[in-house]
Amino acid sequence: MPIPSWQYHEPDHPGADFDAIVEDYDRNMRKVRDVDGEINEVLEFLDLKPEQTVLEMGTGTGEFALAASRWCSRVYAVDLSLGMLRYAQKKAAARDISNVEFLPGGFLTYEHHGPPVDAAVTQIALHHLPDFWKQIALLRIAGLLKEGGRFCLRDVVYSFEAADYQAYFQKFIAQASIRGGDEFARIMADHVKNEYSTLDWIMRGMIEWAGFEVKSSRHKHGFFGLYFCIKL
Ligand SMILES: C[S@@+](CC[C@H](N)C(=O)[O-])C[C@H]1O[C@@H](n2cnc3c(N)ncnc32)[C@H](O)[C@@H]1O
Repeated sequence: MPIPSWQYHEPDHPGADFDAIVEDYDRNMRKVRDVDGEINEVLEFLDLKPEQTVLEMGTGTGEFALAASRWCSRVYAVDLSLGMLRYAQKKAAARDISNVEFLPGGFLTYEHHGPPVDAAVTQIALHHLPDFWKQIALLRIAGLLKEGGRFCLRDVVYSFEAADYQAYFQKFIAQASIRGGDEFARIMADHVKNEYSTLDWIMRGMIEWAGFEVKSSRHKHGFFGLYFCIKL
């Protein structure tokens, strides 16, 4: 279906050119994130059964999708970046995993063929959309999930006191430099400046408006949010 002229054009998102950074992505992520710990806490909430299906939006290099594939029948791993998808596909082949479908598409454009999925996940990707379009993306994810299906959203979401933003960001960027070096601090500063991260109360409201109950949430450094949700 043609994309209307007024719709947010997803490939124009601010931030990294993911096709260009794919080769170094996994190594760089593991320097600053506990990737396996993150995967395990999501899998623990999803509590997948062997016959179930999972949709991951913004799969990137597919680390979560590949791990989830061991616990369910099929994973639909969707991303805008063909470079990321190709890389993830190679990893699947190298690990002898054949039940992950890597599919090109965006939050606003992905068309799911097949029955609704049992679970959905998106990690560090929704901030690529401005808030109105985040709401649409969440509605679309809810539309693809079975009633009672589990949804896990992790992203850069601000949960600090917004009135203190100057002191907060200065301290956060200084700490990022200590944790991940100057380049990581620059990426974090660019994120704050240009990308569409929103506030926790807005994100929570959008999740609920999309038809989910937030069962619990976790926040790290006032900067990373994780929401465990059930479709009502
Ligand atoms: C920071 S990476 C996160 C990848 C992976 N989920 C992770 O946790 O490491 C963001 C990913 O979202 C994808 N992306 C950006 N905008 C998107 C959109 N509108 N729809 C779907 N994927 C998108 C990018 O191509 C990229 O692979």
